[in-house]
Amino acid sequence: MTSLAPSPAANLTASLTLRRPDDWHLHLRDGAMLAAVLPETARHFARAIIMPNLVPPVATGAEAAAYRDRILAALPEGMAFEPLMTLYLTETTDPADVRAAAASGLVKAVKLYPAGATTNSHGGVRDLDKVRAVLETMAEIALPLCVHGEVTTPEVDIFDREAVFIDTVLDPLRRATPGLRVVMEHVTTTQGVAYARAGGPDLAATITTHHLILNRNHLLVGGIRPHYYCLPVAKREEHRLALRAAATSGEGRFFLGTDSAPHPDRLKEHPCGCAGCFTATNTLSLLAHVFEEEGALDRLEAFASLNGPAFYRLPANEDRIVLERRAAPVTFPAKIAAGDEWVTVFDPGFPVHWAVAG
Ligand code: NCD
Ligand code: ZN
Repeated sequence: MTSLAPSPAANLTASLTLRRPDDWHLHLRDGAMLAAVLPETARHFARAIIMPNLVPPVATGAEAAAYRDRILAALPEGMAFEPLMTLYLTETTDPADVRAAAASGLVKAVKLYPAGATTNSHGGVRDLDKVRAVLETMAEIALPLCVHGEVTTPEVDIFDREAVFIDTVLDPLRRATPGLRVVMEHVTTTQGVAYARAGGPDLAATITTHHLILNRNHLLVGGIRPHYYCLPVAKREEHRLALRAAATSGEGRFFLGTDSAPHPDRLKEHPCGCAGCFTATNTLSLLAHVFEEEGALDRLEAFASLNGPAFYRLPANEDRIVLERRAAPVTFPAKIAAGDEWVTVFDPGFPVHWAVAG
């Protein structure tokens, strides 16, 4: 139940109670970076779908089990968090391994990266014919395919990559594999939203926090902002507005996948800067801000806490978090330390008044 209640406490103007959210698209990395960023997610989220694009990728059940163990070993004492593991689909993925990893409960999805589409995707799929047997197995066992929906053809403009992918790859792929359950990861366009809406119960889409906030002007006007660069790249304002409408619609097919993707500042503020926005720290505050702006605070729980588990056929979390609206703006760390590197926390560029209580 969502409740929006005025609060008598001095600095509080409202509070909102939600079932504890989950993040259906998260990059945790490994080693010192994992240790640094995991608490930022585990503080607020119960579970997350963990992206497998490590170097080398998490491609087999055994690799996913080992990565899960490293994540749990990095979890600070007293914090609870359940990593929902994924496998990185390659042209040599073994359907039997996928079947076993899903049957054991370890793996909750398989991730399709078109080769070269984004960070650490060079081992991704070039020829979909080579993964047909895996996709057929996944359809049979109802294991979702999480899709990075961008073509990598050099002739296609980067702002058109998602729309072209839908027409030339995703739609043919879904038609060729009836029953395959698909999550369109981090949709960024009106075309992505429309395609997700036209699909049946086997199609869903995640939306990031930062794509609800940024359009391409924020990235490029007045100087290039490397910390706003992510893939898929932020699009025109009309697309951002379509994403806001989808996220706040309450429709079950749309849910939160932050795509929080930490990179060291050294590699973001670089002549060839890495793609990824690190939003784990302040995502829930930012979402409350966006949903309040849209007059949809009563639908935040559906987006962040209910629709994802329903699609993944998992129970919603039983415990609750409280979001508080404070009279004074809330401050977040500008950066967090990761070993001897720094990671910049996403700065929305406007004051935020919502905080997670406790
Ligand atoms: C992600 C990363 O850094 O791993 N980057 C990003 O811009 N989102 C990869 C991805 O999800 O595309
Ligand atoms: Zn991602």
